[in-house]
Amino acid sequence: MTQPGIPMSSPDLTAADRQAVMDVLNTPFLSMGQHTPAFEQAFCDLTGAKHAVAVNSGTAGLHLCVRAAGIGPGDLVITTPFSFVASSNVLLFENAVPVFVDIDPRTGNIDVEMLADAVAHADKYLPRTLNGAAGPLKAILPVDVFGQPADMDPVNAAARSRGLKVIEDSCEALGGTYKGRQAGTLGDFGVFAFYPNKQITTGEGGVVITDDREAADLMRALRNQGRAPGDTWLSHTHLGYNYRLDEMSAALGRAQMSRLDELLSKREQVAAWYESRLAEIPGVEAPWVAPSTTRMSWFVYVIRFDPALDRDLIARQLEARGVPVRPYFLPIHLQPYMVARFGWREGDFPVTEDLGRRGLALPFSGVMREDQVEAVCQAVRAVVSGA
Ligand SMILES: Cc1ncc(COP(=O)(O)O)c(C=O)c1O
Repeated sequence: MTQPGIPMSSPDLTAADRQAVMDVLNTPFLSMGQHTPAFEQAFCDLTGAKHAVAVNSGTAGLHLCVRAAGIGPGDLVITTPFSFVASSNVLLFENAVPVFVDIDPRTGNIDVEMLADAVAHADKYLPRTLNGAAGPLKAILPVDVFGQPADMDPVNAAARSRGLKVIEDSCEALGGTYKGRQAGTLGDFGVFAFYPNKQITTGEGGVVITDDREAADLMRALRNQGRAPGDTWLSHTHLGYNYRLDEMSAALGRAQMSRLDELLSKREQVAAWYESRLAEIPGVEAPWVAPSTTRMSWFVYVIRFDPALDRDLIARQLEARGVPVRPYFLPIHLQPYMVARFGWREGDFPVTEDLGRRGLALPFSGVMREDQVEAVCQAVRAVVSGA
């Protein structure tokens, strides 16, 4: 039986959201207008952060954090290989070195005991190709995987012990909370992203939040071709980028942010429908929510199969039944350009690799209906029972 029409993900857009974009198109102000600062203010209001800087992707936001944290060639930054590649790529953009630490098998977030060891003995965790020749340890870049905040109290304690900056990659966790505190506010910098599968979307877009005024000023200049306050259109104090968010995206983002709680609640409902059905399927594990996660910001819905089951075969059979699925994540350290540059091998980060082999994202969005969740779960049950 096929299930036509169940998409992997869908944005949740209302007529008012669409109208917000149309209204911008009826003005001459398609960039650098009033919507971008108002969109930024929505993030200060949500999180209590002093500054928010809107950019045109989460990757751009993470890159600006790397620049603002003063991370440069040869510097070491501790992060995890179980993430979307951008969280490590932004380090490579500045010729810094990702020092990988493996993850907690329950959440997919950084293993805080291993992190403490890596902060004390970074030399033990260096990539082979450095041959022990390393620069200073500068920062920790934890990732809030699948919408669940990392265990940030021990991350911050480890960072404080060595004067390290903390860049929280909250690209998957907008609105999630950790011990009652908003994701993204838990380090020196937090970054959100708004690709169409995210909790809110602007098409493409991102926001950085920080309490550091000097860093925020620098990031505003860097996103705008390096123009500092007082620079003219053609004078540039810094080497910068065009990381500006356009006004159509910012207007859509404002409309979406005004519905954030509703958007997150709808995703919570879909996750609950999945959880109750999946509990009855042997060999399938639903996502685990840590006690420190006081609100999960459901981003993707990734299940895990018993090691005896063949995830890739199951994925092919689900696709054949019209259920789109995606392995999540393919480990960063085993991506070809990472292997070529740093010499990582299979076996280097066993927990990341194990979850990478057993995890499968099911169709998920806030507009998914209960009968669609039921159809996906029936397909999973049928395929797994035949496996
Ligand atoms: C963990 C993580 N970091 C960074 C990014 C990059 O965001 P963007 O795709 O907006 O550049 C994403 C988005 O998929 C992500 O999931």
